[in-house]
Amino acid sequence: MRILTFLLTVLSAWAGTKNIVAQNVHISTPHTSMVLRVPEGGKPEYIYYGDKLSDKDLKSVDYAATMHHELYPVYGLNCQEEAALAVTHADGNMTLQMAVVQVKTDSTDTGFLTTITMKDKIYPFHTNIYYKTYRDADIIETWTEISHKEKKPVMLNRFASAYLPIRRGDVWLSHLYGSWANEGRLSQERLEPGMKTIKNKDGVRNSHTAHAEVMFSLDGKPQENVGNTIGAALCYSGNYKLCIDTDDSDFHKFYAGINEDNSGYLLQADEVFTTPILALTYSGEGTGGCSRNFHKWARGHRLAHGDKVRKILLNSWEGVYFDIHEAGMKQMMKDIASMGGEMFVMDDGWFGGKYPRNNDSSSLGDWKTDVNKLPSGIGYIVEEAKKNGIGFGIWIEPEMTNTTSELYEKHPEWVIKAPQRELVLGRGGTQAVLDLANPEVQDFIVGLVDTLTGNYPGIEYIKWDANMGITNHGSNYLGKDSQSHLYIEYHRGFEKICQRIRMKHPELTIQACASGGGRANYGILPYFDEFWVSDNTDALQRIYMQWGTSYFFPAIAMASHISAAPNHQTFRTIPLKYRIDVAMSGRLGMEIQPGNMTDEEKEMCRKAIADYKKIRPIVQLGDMYRLLSPYDKEGAASLMYVSPQKEKAVFYWWKTEHFCNQHLPRVKMAGLDPSKIYKVTELNRIDNQILEYEGKTFSGTFLMANGLEIPYNHQVDYHKQNDYSSRILYLEEAK
Ligand code: GLA
Repeated sequence: MRILTFLLTVLSAWAGTKNIVAQNVHISTPHTSMVLRVPEGGKPEYIYYGDKLSDKDLKSVDYAATMHHELYPVYGLNCQEEAALAVTHADGNMTLQMAVVQVKTDSTDTGFLTTITMKDKIYPFHTNIYYKTYRDADIIETWTEISHKEKKPVMLNRFASAYLPIRRGDVWLSHLYGSWANEGRLSQERLEPGMKTIKNKDGVRNSHTAHAEVMFSLDGKPQENVGNTIGAALCYSGNYKLCIDTDDSDFHKFYAGINEDNSGYLLQADEVFTTPILALTYSGEGTGGCSRNFHKWARGHRLAHGDKVRKILLNSWEGVYFDIHEAGMKQMMKDIASMGGEMFVMDDGWFGGKYPRNNDSSSLGDWKTDVNKLPSGIGYIVEEAKKNGIGFGIWIEPEMTNTTSELYEKHPEWVIKAPQRELVLGRGGTQAVLDLANPEVQDFIVGLVDTLTGNYPGIEYIKWDANMGITNHGSNYLGKDSQSHLYIEYHRGFEKICQRIRMKHPELTIQACASGGGRANYGILPYFDEFWVSDNTDALQRIYMQWGTSYFFPAIAMASHISAAPNHQTFRTIPLKYRIDVAMSGRLGMEIQPGNMTDEEKEMCRKAIADYKKIRPIVQLGDMYRLLSPYDKEGAASLMYVSPQKEKAVFYWWKTEHFCNQHLPRVKMAGLDPSKIYKVTELNRIDNQILEYEGKTFSGTFLMANGLEIPYNHQVDYHKQNDYSSRILYLEEAK
């Protein structure tokens, strides 16, 4: 009987919409299976999550389940356990007892949506748990809707998006941590008994100090291309909390959702509280396999314009900072165009009326052109960009104001501020956050984008910055009973703004920046094309940051710019070749004053840009294979991208430390077609001699089993020698 209902479920999933109450539910993606037991009137359970099961194994999995855990544990009748959901009912009762009412699987445009509907056995309190799949991506998106029909509001004390039991054993966690100018550092640790919490409380920027994405390596220490691995990404732009509770059962119990700290939510009758999505993936091909799954899903479904290669741009920030003026902008645009670049982005400093924006202490909110700096206006600059054959982009920081601004003078009630308290100010000593819960503020921000793009239709790119967190708890818009909704309402407001902007301006390219890499998260990416990885553009440190970030995000979304030497953040002097070779492994751009570059340097960039155009589809749309981790401290780092048909690939190698006669490991390639023959060409060559294998051909089998020996140093004239070394090899199928 059990098998019969199970089969019904599976069949119904393929047949399209059907309402059923079933024992087992099979949620599948091209290469993975998740099996749930969903008894009518009982508690749903996880049975299995892993490699795709054959029909035969599907029938027997029940007898060899890898786990038997409640799907969405609730608080109250098993108080010792952690819970995904905890509430206080209108009558003060703090318990829940949820039972399955219905399961249904609907077909959607992209795959299937399974809904498990549950109701409390006594109270009119409901949850819907969703599982969404894609035909072409190994990701299962899950989230929860919470609602009730009680007489008075119900307080949600805890409201995770999802819970997932990670099986017992030597399980390792990979996650990202850091701080400003040091974002995306990879941390890998064995899960030990106790609670591990990864959280954010910034209110606005949520990926500086930690990230809302994790990976679990189920077979011991993480390996790149082998080992059963589960990945999870909370798709949320606000405060989050990911907890892994390794309790006395030795299971690693994973809970992920909005951070409930200071965010208790008073849910009205008939209101539906929808949690953010938790995107789950599984791969038997190690951390690399999980990354490739995330990247593919991102490009296909979760990132704005994920299937279109990005323009190569020059951003003005590190070149001129606030010193924006007409002649300078014209010079920079001419220079980037002459090097083959395709876009210029005018960063901070272009605006301000009564208070000109000459530094970071004024003018946010006063989005009108500073006519002293740009007397002929932005229209003229946009026209000049066009004359140079390049696109134009502009910087804004729409969620913020300064107390020294016309906006603040007019609308002091729009800022987030605790009543009766002095404002705690941010950047520049005067910055404050606008209250995005307030629809008037939402209109103001949407209006800003409308006005800019309406007045200057040539604007094709926006750098959207956010340089402050919420430091004051208080909304002038939310009522006194809803002050604890502040963080949640801020991000609801933010999402509404993003949705409205995208409805009106679907073609705009928008970069998410938040004091550097503060907004690398899947909550924002449906509306943004890319994010700024870090304010730190030092090529050596970028290898570590981009490596970590690549665990979860594809290269197409990672803005990576060539900047000056010495570097403005680390003061390290890195040769241009190495700076270019690192920037070319992400979404290539420049962030430098080209006016200070020599002709030789400009020529080098011109050639690199031309080559990047050739490899851009492979880097931005191909599969990534990490080969040698900088975190392993073996003296070098290496990764590669392979085109979907595997007929082209790009291999990157960077030396990360320099000692005489130190031997570096030989790097084996990965992801190639073993039977294909590839011709090797070095890009950005500076050596006096070509590599021994330049122009030679090798089979994919050979390259993956042996790799190629990379010379430790460059053979250049004596006065050009230095302590950095890097290589980019382009592989193309030899027909
Ligand atoms: C932030 C960004 C930088 C730059 C400045 C401008 O710090 O991260 O890239 O845009 O703001 O003020």
